Amino acid sequence: MNTKVWEITSEDVNAPLTEETIEKLDEIKLAFEYGEIIAIPTETVYGLGANAKDPEAIIKIFQAKNRPGDNPLIVHVHSYEQVESFTSYIDDKVKKLMDTFWPGPISFILPLKDGVIASNTVAEMDSVAVRMPSHPVARKILEYTNIPIAAPSANLSGKPSPTDAEHVIHDLNGRIFGVVVSEKSEIGLESTVLDCTQFPYKVARPGHISIEELQDVLKEEILEHKDTMERPISPGMKYKHYAPRQPMSVVEGGINSNTRLCVPEGIKKNKVGVIAPETVRQYIDKDMQFTSLCRDEGSYREAAKNLYAALRHMDASDVEIIYIYGFKQNSETEALMNRIYKATGSTIIKG
Ligand code: TXA
Ligand code: MG
Repeated sequence: MNTKVWEITSEDVNAPLTEETIEKLDEIKLAFEYGEIIAIPTETVYGLGANAKDPEAIIKIFQAKNRPGDNPLIVHVHSYEQVESFTSYIDDKVKKLMDTFWPGPISFILPLKDGVIASNTVAEMDSVAVRMPSHPVARKILEYTNIPIAAPSANLSGKPSPTDAEHVIHDLNGRIFGVVVSEKSEIGLESTVLDCTQFPYKVARPGHISIEELQDVLKEEILEHKDTMERPISPGMKYKHYAPRQPMSVVEGGINSNTRLCVPEGIKKNKVGVIAPETVRQYIDKDMQFTSLCRDEGSYREAAKNLYAALRHMDASDVEIIYIYGFKQNSETEALMNRIYKATGSTIIKG
């Protein structure tokens, strides 16, 4: 299959649409209606989209990604009417959170209404995760097609999510119908997933919107995500994720002039990779391969935006082991550190 490429920038859709852009949107709409799968930009990561009502199209997503069939997809919408069309109940508290954070990087798990969304979209579950993205191009495509679009991250299963169209093409070229090329994803980590099917609400996957921000709006307790929970409420959280091919360890407590990164026997120093803030470069042996994640130890947002690109860069390099900087744990680094721990398989060393 020759993967088609459309370039649409935020600028293209923020201004009155040109004929050229309308032509692209028409092609994309038609392809979704015909059951094709297309990668689209969002503010968190690029998603691999398909008509959420079309079981054949959804099968193509699982196949292209090599995704286990028991891992449900997030359905993307542009309006509340769409959400109401396929969920059976939206509590006032959920509405309040939607009004505050949508469009944006949070998905709500809600009870599913029967018979609208294809059952394989939600992996045969009786709930559905819904998100209204804020990326102007994603919004325009959702509006223009007026189809609820199921979209997991547009990477091969197990690999870091794509924050740049280049990552999508690297993983899925020839496996998908098309890709909409746009800017790099601004946030760089997947959405917060909040399970609203039972009280108190529970974070199934931490993301850019923190538990504190949610609690501030609701004035109520929200349960934290725990990896050790017996039954993962988000099936996706039980799989190894976001990982480069090499073994990777997180250096807890950060890296400073006292840190000695160990070079295991049989590995040359120049085959050791280090991912850390730029300010840490001075402490790293010149022979090791350093990848800068952000300006300094406090540039969390920049680190989140660059994390997956850094993991992919290391994956493609000739390094044989990787050390990654462990940021201070706080509400702002919750999602960032969650992804770093997932990518390392929780191999921790103390800096
Ligand atoms: O930011 C994002 O959320 C991106 C963009 C494209 O929107 N999407 C994304 O999708 O990260 P995906 O499929 O890579 O991750 C979805 C997560 C998985 O952990 C999945 O198990 C969980 O959400 N999930 C989806 N529907 C669910 C449901 N009904 N119940 C529990 N967990 C659900
Ligand atoms: Mg994913």
